[in-house]
Amino acid sequence: MLHFKTIIEPFRIKSVEAVKFTHREDRVAALAEAGYNVFQLRAEDVLIDLLTDSGTGAMSASQWGALLQGDESYAGSRSFFRFRDVVQELTGFRHVIPTHQGRAAERILFQTVLKPGDVVPNNNHFDTTRANVEVEDAEARDLVIPEGRVPSAIHPFKGNVDLAALERTLATDGKRVPLVMVTVTNNTGGGQPVSLENLRGVRALCDRYRKPFFLDACRFAENAYFVKKREAGQSGRTPREIAREMFSLADGCTMSAKKDGLANIGGFLALNDDDWAERCRNLLILTEGFPTYGGLAGYDLEAVARGLEEVLEEPYLRYRIRSTEYLHERLVAAGVPCLQPAGGHAVYIDARELLPHVPPLQYPGIALVNALYVEAGIRGVEIGTVMFGRQPDGSEEPGAMDLVRLAIPRRVYTQSHVDYVAEAVIGVAGMKDRLCGYRIVRAPAVLRHFTATFEPIPA
Ligand SMILES: Cc1ncc(COP(=O)(O)O)c(C=O)c1O
Repeated sequence: MLHFKTIIEPFRIKSVEAVKFTHREDRVAALAEAGYNVFQLRAEDVLIDLLTDSGTGAMSASQWGALLQGDESYAGSRSFFRFRDVVQELTGFRHVIPTHQGRAAERILFQTVLKPGDVVPNNNHFDTTRANVEVEDAEARDLVIPEGRVPSAIHPFKGNVDLAALERTLATDGKRVPLVMVTVTNNTGGGQPVSLENLRGVRALCDRYRKPFFLDACRFAENAYFVKKREAGQSGRTPREIAREMFSLADGCTMSAKKDGLANIGGFLALNDDDWAERCRNLLILTEGFPTYGGLAGYDLEAVARGLEEVLEEPYLRYRIRSTEYLHERLVAAGVPCLQPAGGHAVYIDARELLPHVPPLQYPGIALVNALYVEAGIRGVEIGTVMFGRQPDGSEEPGAMDLVRLAIPRRVYTQSHVDYVAEAVIGVAGMKDRLCGYRIVRAPAVLRHFTATFEPIPA
């Protein structure tokens, strides 16, 4: 019997979309026109788009088929009940509130339960989560373990919460904490997983201090697979069994179905508390839509319902985690400083270490992102000082890290695309001394990285 080492894409391709090849001078012009912010590029001018893994995945034939089953009734649609049943079967939460994407679930939850001066602990808040906490004049407090703050540190569960720090927050500021959150996997900290043991520890603290515990569950399936591979005693369980245990430890979750829902749009808020659910539903009706569609079409609900099942299939998760790890391995072997170990959905390059001549307040992440676009037509994203450096009082501090995230869309690119990306990053790293910093020309007060414009600071 043959034992294969090669992990193949667990699908065959039924429909393709051409990518556009451009010349370097076209990309130089396009980037200048975009104000040196790759969020402002036209996507068609990008060859390989690693801006995000959110909503960019390829749906399966089964999901496309399900679209035709969508029931577009305003109230009580069949598609809602299918969606609700899948979410309940997976999470066990009593109330399932569909939303158009993850941040809508966050906004509805936080607007309902936060008041000024409150504190929300999390391992690391994602940018929209942080912004939705801060817009309520509350504090988003990041309590990831110390290893989670050091890009080069190797730890199997670098997304874990520092339980001692969480206990200190609950003991000192407990009156101001309406809920505790944990993000699985921890996107801001490098797509790193959280162990079941750690989630059990958070649960125990929440029980002791009588606090509800919510998961930011965007990448729950990737987290479950890491638990299976890395946590003692978990290798014999299915990703679904592990995911169900993760949810069983929490009282609710926010979810962007654009990630591990394998859909192009969608999300939900799911929770057990009847009073919070009623208040959230009322807000949903005001701003998203009736509670059986929540800003989504019936066909979106169908696509998410199927996606939530497909995402837990083991051949898919094996391929998914391995393809990210493969890119990471190639970059590390070539000496490119990367956050260790590989994340589930993305590889994070340490731009601060790669470009020591570009100070954090001249945005080394932007310098690297822009060079990758100009030299190779690849679009990544800065996760660093531009994204997190602006303080609530308007001042600016270096972010904890200056990373460039190359996020891998689900089921979209093949191994030769990934090989091209590796070659491009290694090539750009080889010309690092020529990369210059940037200054901000204009930026909004909130979530500035999406729309800020920049100009290069000549060396
Ligand atoms: C960890 C995490 N939470 C929340 C969100 C927000 O989800 P959405 O983009 O669907 O609003 C994201 C999106 O990237 C995320 O990665």
